Amino acid sequence: MAADIPSEVSDMQINGVSEIMDLLHIDVESDVEIKPHREDSLCSRNVLRKQRNWERQIAAKKSKRKEEKQRRKLNRELDADSPQFTKRVMKAITKERLAEAQSTGPKLCVDLSMTDCMSDKEISRLAGQLRRLYGSNKKAAQPFHLFLTDLSQDSRLYRECIRMNDGFLNYTMDITEESCLDLFHAETIIYLSPDAEEALETVDVDKVYILGGLVDESIQKKLSFSRAGELSVRTARLPIDEYMVKKNNTKNFHSKVLAVNQVFDILLTFCDTGSWTEALQTWFPQGKGYIIAPVPAKHTLDNTN
Ligand SMILES: C[S@@+](CC[C@H](N)C(=O)[O-])C[C@H]1O[C@@H](n2cnc3c(N)ncnc32)[C@H](O)[C@@H]1O
Repeated sequence: MAADIPSEVSDMQINGVSEIMDLLHIDVESDVEIKPHREDSLCSRNVLRKQRNWERQIAAKKSKRKEEKQRRKLNRELDADSPQFTKRVMKAITKERLAEAQSTGPKLCVDLSMTDCMSDKEISRLAGQLRRLYGSNKKAAQPFHLFLTDLSQDSRLYRECIRMNDGFLNYTMDITEESCLDLFHAETIIYLSPDAEEALETVDVDKVYILGGLVDESIQKKLSFSRAGELSVRTARLPIDEYMVKKNNTKNFHSKVLAVNQVFDILLTFCDTGSWTEALQTWFPQGKGYIIAPVPAKHTLDNTN
């Protein structure tokens, strides 16, 4: 390409052309002089652009290499701190932990008695949330003993769970058509509802916590609160008012209603750390318009604070 030709060479060529034109007595001097100048400036702009691109690519590669080096270093440090297990050993440890939770862990049921009022789309979303809830329990240091109650094998949700959730039938949890009241004494049950008056203070292994198996798209409000009323059991809400404050946002949107798996993640972290601040800070979704209060909004329920 002309851009790569050193300027002395192009000068020599231009001079050669001029001499031939002189011999032929053709006066095209102005053309000959103007054209190379335009091309020259075009070429040099192209060369500069290419060079800048090249320099940018080199710089990006360099910073990527640096990031990768840091990541490898961090991984090496983490590896040195924690023992390495093969996938098979990890699977066996998880299985044992879940089995142990079935006799000693805190109990949590997802009450699936209200699924008839949900659309197919909501049923699919609930199946996905149950998969995530189970996934979190598998990873937990102190898992819960999980129950899916009021779930019959000919229901849409059961079929959707089998379709969407790999290994659903082998989940280490109790799946039953019975209701939570068939399984537990009413006095031990605490039904979690965003509409409850009482704030949940702690998670007690002698209690049974119930989550309403609902996806909030078109569902009426207070459904799980009414269900708890029908069952005549105690209700409690997450201590959001005690630890969080409203955050200004353009849509002025604030909601304390979470998905079942989000509530479960908060409970798991609370059990692990004894801190509602940490649990809510880690898991309360940012888009819900709340942030942790600089000073706990009411009184603190945290064991660690
Ligand atoms: C998507 S919510 C359902 C909200 C629904 N409108 C209702 O009737 O409660 C699914 C379940 O998560 C639990 N949940 C969600 N947000 C909660 C909160 N702030 N406090 C306690 N439980 C909550 C409740 O058990 C609730 O039934």
